[in-house]
Amino acid sequence: MTKEWKLEADAPEVHPVFAEAGGMLAQGGLVAFPTETVYGLGADARNPQAVEAIFAAKGRPSDNPLIVHIADPAQIGQLVEAVDATSLALMDALWPGPLTLVLPVKTDAVCSQVTAGLDTVAVRMPDHPIALKLIRAAGCPVAAPSANRSGRPSPTTAAHVREDLAGKIAGIIDGGAAGVGLESTVVAVEAEGALIRVLRPGGVTVSELRRAAPGVEVAVESVQEVAGGTVPRSPGMKYAHYAPQGTMIVVRGESQHVLPWVRERLAAAAAKGERTGILTVEDYVPYCEADVVIGCGSKKNVPDTAKQLYDALRRFDEAGATFILAFGFETEEEIGLAVMNRLYKAAGQQVVYISPASR
Ligand code: TXA
Ligand code: MG
Repeated sequence: MTKEWKLEADAPEVHPVFAEAGGMLAQGGLVAFPTETVYGLGADARNPQAVEAIFAAKGRPSDNPLIVHIADPAQIGQLVEAVDATSLALMDALWPGPLTLVLPVKTDAVCSQVTAGLDTVAVRMPDHPIALKLIRAAGCPVAAPSANRSGRPSPTTAAHVREDLAGKIAGIIDGGAAGVGLESTVVAVEAEGALIRVLRPGGVTVSELRRAAPGVEVAVESVQEVAGGTVPRSPGMKYAHYAPQGTMIVVRGESQHVLPWVRERLAAAAAKGERTGILTVEDYVPYCEADVVIGCGSKKNVPDTAKQLYDALRRFDEAGATFILAFGFETEEEIGLAVMNRLYKAAGQQVVYISPASR
């Protein structure tokens, strides 16, 4: 049985749900909770059985380490050996917020399954009042991956968590829809503070990193590079992720070329008995024909696309779509970088570029 509680985001710290759910965490239970990015599945990061249970509930490969969540920047001293000046500047400027820092782990600060045996640990302080109050109530650092079954889109609502994990975990706190809709940006500072390496693009943008650490170089590992077989520095980046059950292909190019190509391609797929889908921005929905058409944000509002993306991917599964084309997400700037990263991964890196010559 999975217990479920509904809470307003501003529920007071003395609310009995925090004591109850925090107590479950402290005793080794798994509790899902909202953060500003996506829902997390929490466990006491120091309790090996509890952390094992996360991997079991998610069906997560054991070589993919977890992010440890704290409620106060001062807690970082219990977890890591040292914080370099650049990481400190990032913490100061961007915590609480959707930024995860990879730092040298202190011996025995968390159990080895959390770090998957690496000598680093990923830490973040979420910007969500429920998450912060729950972590304080638990009284321990909280290891929390996204609260989805491994391979499925991350959950942005409590209903998504229920779909994937009901019956497998102790509790779910429903605090409404997550804000950003995509996971935190994971970074590691290298070269003695001179380089910020983005291991996973996410809620904090590259320009926010630059502003927080002026003069420090920021490098982004490309999704394509990972797909091409180089060993990713963030183990999680190598797994198929966020994928709908049907085949999905990202289509890029100018809309006047893309739209007719999509029409032909989907007609051919439908003729073969596929249940067709289109994922696009609202702007193009009136021009689209498929069994399932989902508009996700707009060309002008990429943050909205980020917020709705995972729900959209789940809706294709609910509707039984077997062949999906995704187009119209043209920007790889700012939060668009994270959107395209997730979209490419959802499509298993299948991308088609349409130029006038392709027709
Ligand atoms: O927004 C988020 O970050 C959400 C919420 C719940 O906080 N959490 C999340 O966790 O996305 P998860 O487990 O789904 O993703 C963790 C990512 C993976 O890509 C993992 O490989 C990477 O962080 N990671 C964890 N520890 C690491 C380490 N020591 N070195 C490099 N990458 C690490
Ligand atoms: Mg995840």
